[in-house]
Amino acid sequence: MLEPFMTQSIVGRAQKKGLAEIHIHNLRDYTKDKHRRVDDYPFGGFAGMVMQCQPIDDCISALTSEREYDEIIYTSPDGKQFDQPMANELSLKKNIIILCGHYKGIDHRIREHLITKEVSIGDFVLTGGELAAAVMTDAVVRVIPGVIGDDQSALSDCFQDNLLAAPIYTRPADYKGWKVPEILLSGNEAKIKEWEFNQSVERTRTLRPDLIDE
Ligand code: ADE
Repeated sequence: MLEPFMTQSIVGRAQKKGLAEIHIHNLRDYTKDKHRRVDDYPFGGFAGMVMQCQPIDDCISALTSEREYDEIIYTSPDGKQFDQPMANELSLKKNIIILCGHYKGIDHRIREHLITKEVSIGDFVLTGGELAAAVMTDAVVRVIPGVIGDDQSALSDCFQDNLLAAPIYTRPADYKGWKVPEILLSGNEAKIKEWEFNQSVERTRTLRPDLIDE
């Protein structure tokens, strides 16, 4: 699931440029079970399956014996909500492990003893943590300087200053009578900047008032 994502688009380009390095590890490669199982029934007779300690512990041990990691993140709906400040912060780290949860979850002892950060990408339940890891990777990699052609463009993204981005337009200036705001054609840089800021504030106030309260 993750392989094609990591080799394409922004994340693929960042790797080709040598600005990021991403490795995908299959926990089945670390199991000692002859059927390559990584899950088992939960104690207490609860429903679902649980990922076992041993393959996860062995995988993390193998990785940490090769290099130091700043964070060992577990993707889970009960984790801290992922947002732009977290993406920015993670982009400054050198090495990160993202452990993708599956089934009912992972044995809680892994969370207690090995995980340094638990992250959710929203209040909904995914079948597995892979999509959450892909979302986080994209958001983190795109803010690494040099990944996006124009350095400014990641900084002017929505949320970088708790504001939504202003509307954006391209040619033609008049399409079927749908006109681009006059100010953008004026060439007056200061006025355009002011318009952009006012639009950002207005859109944030209307669409995401919670961001302004923050
Ligand atoms: N795994 C399952 N649901 C998730 C979510 N919302 N965020 C992160 N990881 C998850």
